[in-house]
Amino acid sequence: MNKQLMTEAAEYIRGKFDKKPQIGLILGSGLGVLAEEIENPVKIPYDQIPNFPVSTVEGHAGQLVLGTLQGKDVVAMQGRFHFYEGYSLEKVTFPVRVMKELGVKTVIVTNAAGGVNESFQAGDLMIISDQINNMNQNPLIGRNDPEFGVRFPDMSNAYSPSLRSLAKKVAGSLNISVQEGVYVGNTGPCYETPAEVRMIRKLGGDAVGMSTVPEVIVARHSGMEVLGISCISNMAAGILDQPLTHDEVIETTEQVKEHFLSLVKNIVKDI
Ligand code: HPA
Repeated sequence: MNKQLMTEAAEYIRGKFDKKPQIGLILGSGLGVLAEEIENPVKIPYDQIPNFPVSTVEGHAGQLVLGTLQGKDVVAMQGRFHFYEGYSLEKVTFPVRVMKELGVKTVIVTNAAGGVNESFQAGDLMIISDQINNMNQNPLIGRNDPEFGVRFPDMSNAYSPSLRSLAKKVAGSLNISVQEGVYVGNTGPCYETPAEVRMIRKLGGDAVGMSTVPEVIVARHSGMEVLGISCISNMAAGILDQPLTHDEVIETTEQVKEHFLSLVKNIVKDI
């Protein structure tokens, strides 16, 4: 990771937004609506930011939105970069490095995921308790810059226990029921086979998706606290007798939008 590239990106962003965001939000498929709630927004399309990759996937707007949410200065990624788009994990996680440089202390990472735990149903929200990197890749491979973090980062509390408790408390107070479980990150872009879903369940996974894991590794490497929320957009392959489509993913996230928005906004308020 070249520090110069990151500094150039951060400087460009600071030139458009002079406050120091404390909270970074990474908004997954269909969940970008949260960025619409940001007050006095400064919107910067990714292709204007020096050294930023450019998003291609449907349902991702591809811009950074900076402003105020519940009285807090935030930076939100409306759309993220995926390994399956052909970016290296260094590129995928570049914006997380930039968030750190901008002053972010807490990252809230969201995604749409397939439900692997059979007690889940489409439309559930899941607080991520832990993750399994099933991408056979790691964004920290290569020379380590000690200015960013240690060579061998601890991942015992990848998802902050105190933020998880806060999220559950806030959900309870809003009468929003939430699940909690382990997120497994696959590369995609194909959905899993039913046999792979059975394997993931045996390995301890509750939900499966194609993102999040690299970003959380980099956030932890650089000492930021992480909260993860999955929107269970569908049951993973083989559980229900129906094929999976990206349209279904977007449709379900659309249905849970209100719960998702009020949960995240109220968590941001209490951080
Ligand atoms: N599998 C992998 N990624 C996903 C899924 C799924 O079932 N749903 C949404 N993202």
